[in-house]
Amino acid sequence: MAKEKTLRDLFHDTLKDIYFAEKKILGALPKMAKAAQSADLKAAFEKHEGETEEHVSRLEQVFEEIDAKPQGKTCDAILGIIEEGQEVMKEYKGQAALDAGLLAAAQAVEHYEISRYGTLKTWAQELGLEQAVQLLEETLEEEKKTDATLTELAESEVNQHAEAA
Ligand SMILES: [Fe+2]
Ligand SMILES: [Fe+2]
Repeated sequence: MAKEKTLRDLFHDTLKDIYFAEKKILGALPKMAKAAQSADLKAAFEKHEGETEEHVSRLEQVFEEIDAKPQGKTCDAILGIIEEGQEVMKEYKGQAALDAGLLAAAQAVEHYEISRYGTLKTWAQELGLEQAVQLLEETLEEEKKTDATLTELAESEVNQHAEAA
């Protein structure tokens, strides 16, 4: 009979999922920054690229805490979300609504991350992984802050610009 899978296995698998996702996001953010027309949106993407590098390295520390080597596992959700972002870039190139579309795609990424980090943090608490709780919490807060910054940008400039063609 196969070995019983426990919360620890689920934690490890989900860690691989978000590790894969963060690396994909790291590849997508420079393209989004390049495509953005608003200087503020560009700056927000660039800032979050730096934070995302930190997210990858925090995840590597979490792998270390559970004595596992850092390894990704294909995350179809993030591939789909990133692909939708690329579609917007292509279909709205040079258009007034480009930035609003890019911003929405970025928020979908952040919401995916917030969901994963929230779950992982709760599981780490249950599993008594104290350092992991701390590391996952730090990243979760940065994802939430990025999401809030994007909402502010949408409301203060990006959406109006998209309307006024
Ligand atoms: Fe992240
Ligand atoms: Fe993020």
